[in-house]
Amino acid sequence: MTFQKACSEDDLWEGEMVEVDVGDHHLLLMRIEGGELRAYQGMCPHQDIPLCEGRFDGRVLMCRAHQWTFDARSGDGINPGDCRLARYPIQLHNGDVLVEVDGVAPLFAHS
Ligand code: FES
Repeated sequence: MTFQKACSEDDLWEGEMVEVDVGDHHLLLMRIEGGELRAYQGMCPHQDIPLCEGRFDGRVLMCRAHQWTFDARSGDGINPGDCRLARYPIQLHNGDVLVEVDGVAPLFAHS
């Protein structure tokens, strides 16, 4: 496994999100309520809309286009419930946020 730098820990305060490209992967990094970090696919599984343009309150992410919502802790769809976000492994090292992109592919919904 090869972890690559995505951003610095200081780039994300609790309740914030940022989009980054790592290799060929477009990612959404979030600091969820409680301070943990998550890395998910950057594009909505519904259509090609950047999730960073949506709203995030530390717990729930809402896509701006059609208001699909996702649990920021797990990436599972809330509405609709039959979709989810691909999640990328994270490591923290010397203030940097590292992600592993190999073997992870964005997920897309049925409609
Ligand atoms: S593109 Fe995100 S909800 Fe439709």
